[in-house]
Parts: sequence; C-alpha cells; structure tokens
Amino acid sequence: MKKIVFFFISMILLLSVNAQQTINIIPQPVSVQMFPGNFVLDANTAIQYGTANKELKPAADFFSAAIKKIAGISLAANTAKAKNIRLQIASLPAVNEEGYQLDVTTSSITIKANSKKGIIYGMQSLLQILPAIRTNAKLEIPCLSITDYPRFKWRGMHLDVSRHFFGPDAVKEYIDLMASYKMNVFHWHLVDDQGWRIEIKKYPLLTQTGAWRVDHTDMVWGTRPQAQPGETPGYGGYYTQEQIKEIIQYASERNITIVPEIEMPGHVASAIASYPALSCKQLPQLTLTGGNYTNMSSNYCAGNDSVFTFLQNVLTEVMALFPSQYIHIGGDEVDKGPWKNCARCQARIKAEHLKDENELQSYFVKRIEKFIISKKKKLIGWDEILEGGLAPEAAVMSWRGEAGGIEAAKMKHEVVMTPGKPVYFDHYQAGPEGEPIAIGGMNTLKNVYDYEPIPKELKTEDEKYVLGAQANLWTEFISTTEGVEYMILPRMPALSEVLWTPKDKKNWTDFNGRLQNHFKAYGQKGLHYSPGNYTVSIKPNSQNGKLSVTLSSEILKGDILYTTDGSEPTLQSNKYSQPINITGSLLLKASTAVNGRIMNLQAAKQNYVMHKAIGKTVQYTNPLSKYYPADGPNSLTDGVRGTDAVGKYWHGFSDKDMIATVDLGEMTTVQSIALGCLHHYSDWIFLPKSVKFETSADGVSFTEVATVNNPNDINDKKLMYDFKTNFAARPVRYIRVTALNNVCPQGHSGAGKPGWIFADEIVVE
Ligand code: ACM
Ligand code: ZN
Repeated sequence: MKKIVFFFISMILLLSVNAQQTINIIPQPVSVQMFPGNFVLDANTAIQYGTANKELKPAADFFSAAIKKIAGISLAANTAKAKNIRLQIASLPAVNEEGYQLDVTTSSITIKANSKKGIIYGMQSLLQILPAIRTNAKLEIPCLSITDYPRFKWRGMHLDVSRHFFGPDAVKEYIDLMASYKMNVFHWHLVDDQGWRIEIKKYPLLTQTGAWRVDHTDMVWGTRPQAQPGETPGYGGYYTQEQIKEIIQYASERNITIVPEIEMPGHVASAIASYPALSCKQLPQLTLTGGNYTNMSSNYCAGNDSVFTFLQNVLTEVMALFPSQYIHIGGDEVDKGPWKNCARCQARIKAEHLKDENELQSYFVKRIEKFIISKKKKLIGWDEILEGGLAPEAAVMSWRGEAGGIEAAKMKHEVVMTPGKPVYFDHYQAGPEGEPIAIGGMNTLKNVYDYEPIPKELKTEDEKYVLGAQANLWTEFISTTEGVEYMILPRMPALSEVLWTPKDKKNWTDFNGRLQNHFKAYGQKGLHYSPGNYTVSIKPNSQNGKLSVTLSSEILKGDILYTTDGSEPTLQSNKYSQPINITGSLLLKASTAVNGRIMNLQAAKQNYVMHKAIGKTVQYTNPLSKYYPADGPNSLTDGVRGTDAVGKYWHGFSDKDMIATVDLGEMTTVQSIALGCLHHYSDWIFLPKSVKFETSADGVSFTEVATVNNPNDINDKKLMYDFKTNFAARPVRYIRVTALNNVCPQGHSGAGKPGWIFADEIVVE
C-alpha cells in the first residue's frame, strides 16, 4: 500500500518536473497535464482542418509558415499522413470564446476551440514549445493536454507612432510580438501634436504637412526648438489607407483588433499646422518641430461647427477602414487656455448653458460620441472625458491612476485599466544608471507582474465593467524598433500573464523560470530585451527601538552584496542572507552579483541614523498626504534619512502645519531633538517657516523647549536641512514637533497658495 502511494507521489513529482523542464508557455495556461512520450514533427506530418472549415485556412497557413521557418518542413494540408495536426472548431463548454484545448499524443496533435481565435492561441502555445529558430534538433513536442482561456477580454498594447514614426514593417513586428503572448488589442496612437500619421483622402494636408517636422535628434526631447525659417521638415511619415488595410488584415489573422486613436480636442498641433482654421486663433500655416509647439495652439476650437464637420469626415474614413467596435478619441491633457480666450468657444458655453471649459470638453466629446454611435461604433477615451460629465455610452481608459476607471465602472461604463504605474512602458524598468534614456518613472518587471486590474474599491457586480488592462508605449524617447523591443520585453510577457492567467495560478518565481527560455529565444531571434532590474531594494523595519533592514532583488539567481562603511560593494563584500540589524548610524550600500559579476553601475544606498525614538509611535494632528506616505505611518521614527529625490522616504504634509507627537513609551533622558526637512522650490516643497519643539511627561501638558526659525532663503532651489535644538538633559516621555507651513512665495507659479512640508525623521538624542 505504502509502496503504491510512494509510486504515485514520485510519478506526480516526476511529471511536474518534466513539465517545468520542457514547456515554458507565457502566459501560463489555465491547466497543463504532462504525459510520457513525444510527438515528433517531421516531413510525415500533415495539418488537417477540413474543407468545411475554410476560415481555418489562414490559421493553418500561419502555423505552416512558422514550421517551415523553424524546421524547413512543408506541412501537407488536408491529406493523409502518418502523423496529423488537427484543427477543429467544436463546442467546448469548458472554455470561453478565446479558449482552446490542446492535446498532444505520440501520433497526433489536436487543437479544439469554439472559434478561430482559440485555434490560433492553441497554435501560439504550440509554437512556444518548439525551438525559436531553425536547428537540426528533432522537433519534439511532449505529450500533454492543455485547457486554456483568458481571464480578461481586453489585453492591450498601445504604440505612439506620432512622437516617432514606425513604418508598416515595425508595426507588424509589434503585432507579431503581441500575438505570441496572446495580447489581442493594438491601440494605435495615430495622431498627436508631433505628427499626423493616417492618410485622410478628404484632407490631404493632414499628411502632406502634418506628418512632417524639423527634428533635432541631437537635442533631448522637449528642448528641441521651433523650426527656423528656411528649415525643411525632414522627419516624419504616415500610413496610406492601403497600408492600413493590410496591417488590419495582418493583425486580424493573429487575433488582434486594432483600435485607432484619433486624438481630440487637444494634442492636435499637427492638424492645426495643416488646417489653421481648426484652431481658436486664426494662425498662419506652420511647420511642425521636434516637440516644441509652445507658440502653437494645439486645440481644436470647440465653438466652430466646421471643426465638427471636419472631424466627422475624418472619422467616417477612419471607421470605414477599421472594423474595431471601439474608436479612441483621446481627450487627454487639454489645455483649456485657448478656449477661455476664444469668443466662439465662450459663445458656445453660453448657448449650450455650460458651466465652464470642462463642460465644454464634455460637450465636444458627447457630440462626437453621438456621431460615432450613429455609425454603430463605441467611443473610448482617456479618463479626462469624465471631467464635465461622461458621454452616455463612453468607455474610459484610466491612465492617471485607477481613480477614473473606478469612477466610470461604478457608473456602469466599460473601463480599460492603463495606470501610469505600473503599465506605462515608456518608464524605466531598471537603473536608471546604464539604461537607455526614458521619460522617467520606474515600472519594473515585478511591478508589472504584480499588477491586479480589478481594484479593491469595486463591488463584485461592477467588476465586469473592467474589460482588462493595457500597457502604453509613448515614444518621445524611443525612436527605433530596437528601442521598442527593449521597452516591451519582457514587461509585455509579464502583463500577458496578468491578463490571461487565473489569479491563483500566477507565480513570480515560476514566471522567472519560464522567462529564461524566452530570453534565449529573443537572443536567437536578435530581439532586444531588458534582462531585468538588478537594483537592490532596501526595506527598513523599525520596532520597539530596534532597526533592521531587508534587502531584495528582482533577480532570483544572484547574490546581494553589501557594505556598511560607505564603500561600493565588491565580490568580496558581505553576502546578504538575513535581515541586517542596524545598531549605529551608517550608510548602507548594496548591489546584485550574477555569475561573479557586479550587475549595478551604482549600488543602491541608504543612510540610517540610530536614535532614541527609533520604532516609536507618532500621532499626527493633521493627516499626512496619502500621496507621500514614505515607508508608512511611523516613517518619522524609522531611522531612514531621505535623499534629495522627492517622494521616496519623505512624509508629505500639504495645506496645514505638521504637528507630530512622538510617544517614547517611558520616561527617557533627552538632550537634543531635530526635524529633517526637504526644500524643493519647483515642486512646491518649502522648509517650514519655523519648527517648535515641546516635551511632556503625560502627553497632556507640554513645555516648549525651543522654536527654531528657518534660516534659509525660501527662493533656494533645493536643499535638505535639519531644524535642531540642544538643551540640558531632561527626562521626557512625549515630544511634540510643530512645523509651520509656508505659502509659495511671490514669483512662484503657485504664489500665495499653501506649499508642502516634507519631513524624513524626528531625531531624538
Ligand atoms: C496620456 O498619457 N496622456 C494619456
Ligand atoms: Zn475656440
């Protein structure tokens, strides 16, 4: 009896080990069962999809072409052979419309699905089991049974082709990469200030003028100057309608729907340069420049009916091209300034009884939505379309965090989650030292992998309005296909697992293991990818007067090396194995090493200070900002000193004074108290006007020790400063620190408005 149980257990272990070793599918399928034996794909193999299933021919051709590339074998189609790959549309109640069942035995491979979509996904899984490129090895596929279907129906990837133009071949490569990870919506950002990229027959200047600009590639994006007289706009490009039709067809063969974005009413300097009458000001014909359009209105006039006629004509051509149910109309970041100063826009506000320019934007979107609905399509826009009132049937793409998505889903509107953190793939994924220059921010592979598209704030019955999520790739800082590959690999595979795999089947360690195989394939195919984030994360933990730190790295197969004397870690430095106890004030530095090599150009570092309030509880009279929580509620007593980077390690207080009371837990002899503060003029962060220090034995009656005024100039750009008082040693239990908030000074963009206080530590000695 025991023996039999042992046999079964070892079989299960053996089989699961086998599964680990032989298949590395991303996204992880819903269910995989492995069996002994292999199917050997060779010249004796045919693909069978039956003559009744004509719609499967493109899918079969797609797969045959892939096999030809890998193995040089031409699969016979619909003829008898010893071994067969069968494609079958069948009723499969266990999987949804996109799901499939893949069965491999020694003599046959069967892919069954409810629709062609599932058949294609089954093939993509099969292709991930095979080698990436042609080798002389036998094409062996282990016997297995996979049942698989996606969790979400919107698995999106966006590409901005305006800031930099990517031609049809580059777009097809993007589509191929998406398809291999079962992503199914390509959001094509075709219009923005810096280039109009879609041919519109009725308005040829949109591409004759609007697709071209003078570019200064030698200068960082955003500092590039306006075109000078006599300069030729030599950078640009656009897609003809014929090219677009071909790309739509190409995508559709790979189960990808293309959602075109025709941005409005802002971000359209390209359209206005082409047809100046569309703007609020009557502008002369303009030449686009490499990103600097400050002299140009970039909005359509919302008071001019001919703008709507223009947009309806544009959208009519767009909707005739794209079979997508959704048409994206942008709607983000509209500078309402031009509308405020335009007589026609103001007349519209009056005539339509609108409250303000927000409602004017809402009027604009609603009017366009009516037109889109009349053509049996649906409008989708960025979350700003909520401001001033959401159009009746609009879907919302939530990019400024998830708040817009939550609000829209509660209103029973469809939502696609695409929050800047963590799915803006134009942000850094590692470094930033040693990384290609990016727009900023940090969205690591693990940040993406850990993303959950359904917010906790939603009631169960509203969850269904979240269609899925999408990564956005803005290309201000990306100008080549290599750059595009690098930013989406491997973050897109991580997102694919978020969107496809059941939540309880996601596993970061397991994903990492499978990813190593995909890295190998990228290498073989010459694809550029990021090997991951080697930066060591340093997490403090302060409790009961004790301070320790935990070090971790997203790289699973490496060592963390650290120093506490301020020196850069080397291979001879301490190897991290358990939380480090901090007993004095020190500078900790840590790096990741892989295969005997330090992987960081610069070590991660953190300053610690040991003092008598470490780990003690702090109460705030006025709440701290939810946006700047530092490391949690007791960040002012965690021993962690801030750096001059805004955000990290700093507790932020806006509007009101910071009043913090520390309970030392027992009478303690104290002779100095300090409050560390940050000053960052351009971010509205100012050193407090003054800091008052008080002590108490009972927490009720406090005695002032000292008030320290700010000795620094409020117009200073950036500094860190400790407000400190020394006094004759005395026993105290409670310490109250009151920091008076500053208003933004004259000449500041927020002049007269309250500033922020940023504090990192109350140091008690
Ligand atoms: C956006 O990132 N402006 C939608
Ligand atoms: Zn106007």
